[in-house]
Amino acid sequence: MKKQVLATAVALFSIGAQAQGQVNIICSVQAEWCNMIGTVYTKTTGTKVNVSMKGSGEALAQLIAEKDNPKTDIWFGGTGDPLLQAAEQGLSFEYKSPALSQLHGWAQQQAQQSAYKTVGIYSGPLGFGYNSELLTKKKLPIPKTWNDLLNPALKGEIQVANPASSGTAYTMVATLVQLMGEDKAFEYMKKLHANISQYTRSGTGPIKAAARGETTLSISFVHDAPGEKMQGFPVETVTPADGTGAEIGSMSIIKGARNLEAAKKFYEWALTPGAQEMAAAAKQFQLPSNKSAKNDARIPDFKKIKFINYDYAKYGASNERRRLIAKWEKEVNSLPR
Ligand code: G6P
Repeated sequence: MKKQVLATAVALFSIGAQAQGQVNIICSVQAEWCNMIGTVYTKTTGTKVNVSMKGSGEALAQLIAEKDNPKTDIWFGGTGDPLLQAAEQGLSFEYKSPALSQLHGWAQQQAQQSAYKTVGIYSGPLGFGYNSELLTKKKLPIPKTWNDLLNPALKGEIQVANPASSGTAYTMVATLVQLMGEDKAFEYMKKLHANISQYTRSGTGPIKAAARGETTLSISFVHDAPGEKMQGFPVETVTPADGTGAEIGSMSIIKGARNLEAAKKFYEWALTPGAQEMAAAAKQFQLPSNKSAKNDARIPDFKKIKFINYDYAKYGASNERRRLIAKWEKEVNSLPR
C-alpha cells in the first residue's frame, strides 16, 4: 500500500515537474550573470534552465546553423547589432511584450525597428581600459582620444576582440565608421593594427587581460571594468573625448522555439526590474532597460560621455554587418604586424 502511495506521489511529481517545462538559453553576457539568472529562475519558477554561453557573433553563427532545427528558445544579452541581424534573417520570433512601456526609449526603439523580434535589456558605452600600474611604470600617457591609441609607443600594448566573434569589437568598427567616415575609419584601424598584440575571441578578454597586467590597454565596454576592480585589479577606463558608441544589449525569442510558452514567461521575467538588478549582483554594470530598475552607483554616467548618434538599424542590418566584418578581415586583420 505504502509503495503504491509513493509511486503515485512520484508520478504526480514528475507530471508537475514536466508541466514547469524548460527553457534553453544562449547567453552572451558574462558567466556569473548567466549562471545567476539560470539558478534564480529555476528556484523561483521550477522551470529548468539550460544555459549555453556564447559571444554575440558566435551566438548568431550558431542560430544560423540550427535554423531548420532550433535547439534554442531564448538569446539573452549580447550587443544588439547581431540580434537585429538575426531578426532580419528570420531567426527570431515576433513578440510584443506588455512591459514595453516600462522600458527606456532606446530599448523600445530596438523592439520597434526589429518588428518586435528583439528588445533592449541594457546599454553600455564603449571606451578604453588601462592597467594604471603598467601605464605609470611604462611612463605612458592615459589615452584621451581614438588617435591617442596610434601613438607608436603603444606598439603591442593594446588588445581588442575580433569583430567576427565579438559584438564588442563590431561596436568599435561601426562606431569608428560613423565617427570618421568609412575610408578614414579603415585607414585608422590599419594603423591601430600595428599597436594591437592580439584580437581576442571574446569581447571581455582584453579588459580582463589589462586588469591582470597581460596587456596595458584595451578597447572595451567601460561597464566591464568595475567587476575587475572589485577583484582588486588596477584597471581604469576612459571614454574617448571625440565621441564613442554604445551597445543596446538585447534579447530575443527564437523562431521555432520548442518551448515557446516557457520562453515567453522567461522573457517577461527578464524585463522586470528585479531580474535586471541581478546584473549588478553578478558584478556587471550595464544600464538596465527597465526604467524602474535600481541603478548601481558603478554604472557609467551616460551624461558625462560624448556619444555619436549610433545608427542601430543601419549597422544591425545583415548586409552591412557582414560587409564590414569581411572588409575588416581582408584589409586589417590580414596585414602583417
Ligand atoms: C560583455 C559585456 C556585455 C556585452 C558582451 C558582448 O559581456 O558586459 O555588455 O554585450 O560582452 O560580448 P562579445 O563577446 O560578443 O563582445
